[in-house]
Amino acid sequence: MKLMVIGGGGREHAIVKKLKENPEVTEIFVLPGNAGMSADAVCVPIKALDLPGIVRFAAEQKIDYAVVTPDDPLAAGAVDALEAAGIACFGPNQRAAVIESSKIFAKDLMKRYGIPTAKYETFDRLADALTYLETAPIPTVIKADGLALGKGVVIANTREEAKTAVTEMMANGRFGRSGERVVIEEFLTGPEISVLSFTDGHTVIPMVSSMDHKRAGEGDTGLNTGGMGTLAPNPCYTPAVAEVCMNSIFLPTIRAMREEGRPFKGCLYFGLMLTADGPKVIEYNCRFGDPETQVVLPLLKTDLLTVMRAVTEERLSEIKVEFSNQNAACIVIASKGYPSAYQKGFPITVPQSVLPHVYFAGAAEKDGQLVTSGGRVLGVTAVADTLEAALHDAYEMAGRISFEGVWYRRDIGARALAWKEN
Ligand code: AMP
Ligand code: GLY
Repeated sequence: MKLMVIGGGGREHAIVKKLKENPEVTEIFVLPGNAGMSADAVCVPIKALDLPGIVRFAAEQKIDYAVVTPDDPLAAGAVDALEAAGIACFGPNQRAAVIESSKIFAKDLMKRYGIPTAKYETFDRLADALTYLETAPIPTVIKADGLALGKGVVIANTREEAKTAVTEMMANGRFGRSGERVVIEEFLTGPEISVLSFTDGHTVIPMVSSMDHKRAGEGDTGLNTGGMGTLAPNPCYTPAVAEVCMNSIFLPTIRAMREEGRPFKGCLYFGLMLTADGPKVIEYNCRFGDPETQVVLPLLKTDLLTVMRAVTEERLSEIKVEFSNQNAACIVIASKGYPSAYQKGFPITVPQSVLPHVYFAGAAEKDGQLVTSGGRVLGVTAVADTLEAALHDAYEMAGRISFEGVWYRRDIGARALAWKEN
C-alpha cells in the first residue's frame, strides 16, 4: 500500500514510524515532511495548505490512503478535497474540523449539550467585550475564535491586561480574522490532561492519556510554546476520572457532533482540566496533539493503519485497540532562544542508538548534513516500565544529542511525579 501523510513535524514523524510497522505498507510520502524523517519516508516539497497540489500528487502516485494531521489543512477542507478525488482519508472533514477552528462553535456546542466546560460569553463587538470586562471576574481567559498558531489564548491577571488582549485581537487585527470574534471565559484551575481518541462518529476509543508541558520555562513559567515535553499515561487520569470523562464528555461530544450533522471521524483531542468540580473541557483539537503523539503512539500495540482504516470505514466498534501498560516520556529539544528569536542552520548530531527514538520537527539538509531549521528541533521518547525510568532514559538520550544552542527543560515529569506521591 502507498500512503501519504500531510504535515511536517514531530507528530507526523511519529505517525510515519508507526504506520511503517504494517508489513503491507510499501511506501510512505510526507508532504512536506522535513529532512529528519527522510530515512523513514519520502519527503515531497508540497505544502500542507496546497490542496490542489496535494490532490494532484495523490492521484498521480495512486495513493491508497492519506492521513491529514495539521489543523489548518483540516480546517481548509483537505479531507473533503481528497475524498472528492476518491482517496480514502484519515481526518475530519471541514464541517467537523470546526470543533477546533471555531472556539465559539465548540463552546456553544458544549452549552447546548450540557458538556462541562468553563462558563463563557462570546463577543463580536469590541465595545461589548470592554463593557463586560468592567465587571468580569479576574483572572479571566480571552480566546480568539479562530486558529491562531496556538497563541490565541491569553490568561489575564488584571482588568487592564484583559482589555489590552481583546483590543489587540478585535481592533488591531493581532490574529487577523481569527480574532474578530472572541470568547471570554472563566479561569479554571487544576491539573491538565490530554486525551486523544479515535472516533468514527459513532464509537469513541480513548487512547492512553498524556500530559503536555506548554511553558518554555522550568516550573511552568515563561512563554507558551508548542510543547516542551510530554508523558503518558497521565497519573491524574485515574480510572474513576476516565469513567466520568467517557460519560459526561467523550460520548456526549460524539453524539452532539452527529446530531449537528457534523459527524466527527478521525482523532479527536480532548484538552481537559481536572477541577474541584470534576473534569471540564478546556479545548477540543480536531487532530493528534504535538508532542502528545510522540508518547501516545509508541504505547499503541494495535496496528495504527488498521485502526485508522476502521475509522474511515466506520467500523471502529468491530476492532479492539490496545495500549501497552508501560510509560513513555518525550523531551523536546529546542534551539536556544525559542519561542522567541533563534538561529538556524547548526549541524545536528544524534548517535545511531538514539535515532530510533527521535522524532524530527525542525531539521533540514544542508550539504548532506542534517541541520537545525526550527525552534523545536526534535523530540526524543523513551518507553519503560515506570514513569521514573522513562524520564531517566529520555533525559539520558537527550544528553547525547548535540547542536549549537541545544536546550531543553530539565523538569519534564516533575509535576506528574509529585502528583503520584500525594
Ligand atoms: P490552548 O491554546 O487552547 O491550548 O490553551 C492554552 C492553555 O491555556 C491551556 O493549555 C491552559 O493551560 C490554558 N487555559 C485555557 N483555557 C483556560 C481556562 N478557562 N482556565 C485556565 N486556563 C486555561
Ligand atoms: N500539544 C497541544 C496541541 O497539539 O495542541
